[in-house]
Amino acid sequence: MQAAPALTSQDVARLYYNTQTRYGAPVVIRAIQPDDKYEMHEIYPTLSQHTLYMRFFRVIQQPSLEYITRYTDVDFTTHLALVALWGPEQRLGAAGRLIRGNASSDVAELSCLVVDDLQKRGLGRLLVDELINTGRAWGINKVIALVHSANTPMLKLLKGLGYPTELIYDDGEFTVTLDIHQSPCQDNASHHATLSPMHQGIEA
Ligand SMILES: CC(C)(COP(=O)(O)OP(=O)(O)OC[C@H]1O[C@@H](n2cnc3c(N)ncnc32)[C@H](O)[C@@H]1OP(=O)(O)O)[C@@H](O)C(=O)NCCC(=O)NCCS
Repeated sequence: MQAAPALTSQDVARLYYNTQTRYGAPVVIRAIQPDDKYEMHEIYPTLSQHTLYMRFFRVIQQPSLEYITRYTDVDFTTHLALVALWGPEQRLGAAGRLIRGNASSDVAELSCLVVDDLQKRGLGRLLVDELINTGRAWGINKVIALVHSANTPMLKLLKGLGYPTELIYDDGEFTVTLDIHQSPCQDNASHHATLSPMHQGIEA
């Protein structure tokens, strides 16, 4: 198997973009850093039970700083993570990650979380878009996300990206697979395959 491109520490340092949401709010997207754990630790108690459940499928009580380290001290070989910093004060508004089984795999699992008071402002979409673009340069061709069937925003976000998309429903969650090897196309945003051997006809 051909080795996927690895990100050097210089590549990681270059993952820094001044951008804006589709509503015009200024956002910086950059690679996660170990020191982000302090702000994440502070933010955690402000997250709603719903947000935590949609992200982790369970509600974890306030984690220790040491526990959060596993989300911030990432290797950029099997685990790539970006954060979105909101507004002129650059507060931590969202984090997203791609995790692959080994350094040469071209398939990665995607997850992300936007803090409650910044949801529905285009931040999740912006971050996921950037994560996918970075992931492609990292050697990823397929992105998989496990999404709770009640998570309409995430299902809408993923389908709206415009990549060929397959959804498989099982027991309250969708496995959403995006083929990011191809360019996004608006036709794909409205046509996607929903496969569900046991629950045919469920539309996310
Ligand atoms: C899911 C999540 C990442 C979406 O991020 P966001 O910044 O709130 O979403 P955006 O503003 O970028 O909107 C993305 C799409 O969802 C839609 N949307 C957002 N909130 C919505 C809501 N409450 N109900 C219905 N649709 C919604 C938007 O209209 C948009 O669709 P469009 O592009 O077709 O207009 C964010 O809400 C979140 O972190 N939720 C909790 C954790 C989670 O679910 N993580 C994903 C686990 S895989």
